[in-house]
Amino acid sequence: MKVKIDGKTVDCRNIWMKSQTINMIDQTRLPFEFRVHKTNNYRETVEAIRKMQIRGAPAIGVAASYGLAQAAIEFKDLEIKKFWKHLDEVTREFLNTRPTAVDMHNMVKRMLGAMKQAETSHQCVKIALRESQKIAEENAKACKNIGLLGRNLIKEGIGVLTHCNTGALGTVDYGTALSIIRFAHYQNKKFIVLATETRPWLQGRLTDWELTQEDIEHYIIADAAAGYYISRGDVQIVLVGADRILSNGDVINKIGTRTLAVLAHENNIPFVVAAPTTSIDLNQKIKNIKIEERDSREITHVKGYNEETQEFQILRLYFTDQVKNPVFDITPAKYVSKIVTENQIIEPPYNLERQLKNK
Ligand code: MRU
Repeated sequence: MKVKIDGKTVDCRNIWMKSQTINMIDQTRLPFEFRVHKTNNYRETVEAIRKMQIRGAPAIGVAASYGLAQAAIEFKDLEIKKFWKHLDEVTREFLNTRPTAVDMHNMVKRMLGAMKQAETSHQCVKIALRESQKIAEENAKACKNIGLLGRNLIKEGIGVLTHCNTGALGTVDYGTALSIIRFAHYQNKKFIVLATETRPWLQGRLTDWELTQEDIEHYIIADAAAGYYISRGDVQIVLVGADRILSNGDVINKIGTRTLAVLAHENNIPFVVAAPTTSIDLNQKIKNIKIEERDSREITHVKGYNEETQEFQILRLYFTDQVKNPVFDITPAKYVSKIVTENQIIEPPYNLERQLKNK
């Protein structure tokens, strides 16, 4: 992704691993401070995911894959049985950090499958390093393809409404829904993006930052303003990402997505979901999926940046602690007009198991 630092534009990925260190753009500090956070062992990586220094379904999947490689390095001198006992515990720790997004499950499963081929702990390390790099590369490539395949969905002069942050910051590079926006912009089309602020964690500030880096015209709107703009005819497409897509086309994504889907349906505008195939879950039924609930302080408190002291401050908004904070919701397939993956644009009626095979 493009990042402007001290007047210069550089190309930077969201996450990468060099020797034992994982580097990630710290999303708790943007858009005020651009900082690369480094984790030197799997515990620090678990913590970074939990604190959302890295976030977004594919990005946390890649972070966990790299984190397993860090763990493998740490346990490399253990005999193989002990090595696996420790690695299984670490796997559980990663999977418990953010249970809803399926990419982490899919990528971790792939990592363990590859490592199971090894006979010694040292071989496991080699495989883990190689496989995690492959997973990261494949995500960057998939996200680029999503943008290239989906860009023509954005027509000259339209209004695009997007939710949460689906950009390079939620993936290794390019993004999902935001990759489509990025590549439509590279075609020199003019359009306007309305980006929801996405209460309570305010991922909209990350979308604002990314769109600013690319000089894409956009406005941040309060989540509650979406219906107003859609009903006025200012929006011709709603474009979102996904944390998990089921075979029947149901989409689990950032809280508030369902409201936007119903609004789009009611106003006859397309509701399009963009996600790599690593975000597809062909096995689970909706009733078995855990919707992550996060700390009530995300709602009762607000974090802002004091420009005078150049420090972050946390302020209290509510006296009560009687708060509910589910961070994802479920959009039924009947509201989903299209699903854009790296390989194809899928249309209803959805049977992803069959539709993915046909590609
Ligand atoms: O809680 P977050 O910020 O990790 O949630 C992110 C989303 O819901 C995105 O829409 C999703 O991961 C897909 S795009 C990267």
